[in-house]
Amino acid sequence: MSVFIESVGVEVPQRRLSNDELAQRIDTSDDWIRSHTGIGSRHIAADGTLTSDLASAAARKALEGAGLGPSDLDFIVVATATPDYFGFPSTACIVQEKLGALGCPAFDLTAGCTGFIYALEVASSLLESNNARHALVIGAETLSRIANWEDRSTCVLLGDGAGAAVLTRSDGCDSRMVVSVLGADGSGAGDLRLLQAERSKTFSPAMPIVPLLEMNGKRVYNFAVSTIPRLVERLLKACGRKLEEFAWIVPHQANARIIQAAAKRLGAPEERFFMNIEEYANTSSASIPIALAEMSERGLLKRGDLVMLLGFGAGLTYGGAVLRW
Ligand code: ACO
Repeated sequence: MSVFIESVGVEVPQRRLSNDELAQRIDTSDDWIRSHTGIGSRHIAADGTLTSDLASAAARKALEGAGLGPSDLDFIVVATATPDYFGFPSTACIVQEKLGALGCPAFDLTAGCTGFIYALEVASSLLESNNARHALVIGAETLSRIANWEDRSTCVLLGDGAGAAVLTRSDGCDSRMVVSVLGADGSGAGDLRLLQAERSKTFSPAMPIVPLLEMNGKRVYNFAVSTIPRLVERLLKACGRKLEEFAWIVPHQANARIIQAAAKRLGAPEERFFMNIEEYANTSSASIPIALAEMSERGLLKRGDLVMLLGFGAGLTYGGAVLRW
């Protein structure tokens, strides 16, 4: 018996905000943002577009790719730090209603930028323990709503988007989720968090007042660069493979410099680390499923490929998964 990703889907808002356009609004430049982060643009949800809208659009594409309908779903798990409502109802319940998948259990999970990896593991375990067949695992964010647009060291990093995966349990197939490793270091909880906002700091006056993101960038950077190599070692040990055997490593798209530094520490070629941060910036829990959907669309993932997913973020959390595509 095995659990595998059957298909993936992506939804990114049309509105593309380039570094140059952003530089007309705050004191920054295309040159600074590119050289410090690798980011060239980000996509921003229109007023009135909710995290659940992006999530359900990505989910519909993933369901279509799997040839499934909403009634085939046994669970919906949404990883998000920017739910439609802070507290309740869960964004997953709203997605369930939008998809017309009424009846199946649906819940949100919060693990910062590691959310999608945590959600994969939870959904995979639920599929196995409930003898169920299909789960929808979504990473979706409208980070533009929680960005502090007066803080140039954080707002330039963030973007909106959603990625969804249909996870299927099968009684015998070659492509499967091989192993996953999850972890957290709560002593860094204060390094990346949401704090009460003021009206002047929101992107548009029409937006509701929500908590705003505050980050100690250097501490998060150091955490990521030191955690990734240790996480990779644990994953390799757990699955009994060598890094050279992997076709792709798909890291959370936080900062190109973090990914480059991690590749260097691991002695692995940078080209093996998939990156699309230049276009989408950091979409938190959505970045890994967005990357998988883009890779799948571009034909970069071949059947049988070993793929490693790596997440790290608020919590501070980290997690990785090894898949046989
Ligand atoms: N444009 C121009 N200058 C800037 C900008 C900007 N956007 N941001 C900061 N600066 C300036 C600072 O004011 C500072 O100027 P000073 O020396 O005159 O004081 C200078 O650039 C250097 O600032 P640092 O903060 O030291 O810049 P650093 O090289 O550390 O890069 C960054 C900052 C990019 C935020 C980095 O720390 C980082 O990537 N951290 C990790 C971010 C991350 O991955 N977060 C996790 C995800 S976020 C989430 O979970 C949603």
